[in-house]
Amino acid sequence: MNKITNLKELKSGAFINFDYKGTKAILVKTASGKVVAYSSICPHEGGIIEWDINLHKLLCECHLSIFNVEDGSVYRYSSVFDNMKNLTPIPLKIDDKQDVYAL
Ligand code: FES
Repeated sequence: MNKITNLKELKSGAFINFDYKGTKAILVKTASGKVVAYSSICPHEGGIIEWDINLHKLLCECHLSIFNVEDGSVYRYSSVFDNMKNLTPIPLKIDDKQDVYAL
């Protein structure tokens, strides 16, 4: 279990890219203070998911799909796609010192 960050070091709206079991992942502290993490690999065709602080959403730069940060659900995707899956969540543990770990 690798420490990703400490909550005291993370302002609302901040994000951290980290490695999770050999793949890219992203952690975000939302405006409401919730901490979430997802695989950074887009479920469509493997584009990289990035945090857009202005939209307060997660965005795939490849074909511009947008995901809700609170639960990784699809917010918008191109109508030419057959289907679109949600982002894959990464379970987190926050200990007494407010250190954040990916499980
Ligand atoms: S690879 Fe992400 S929307 Fe297509």
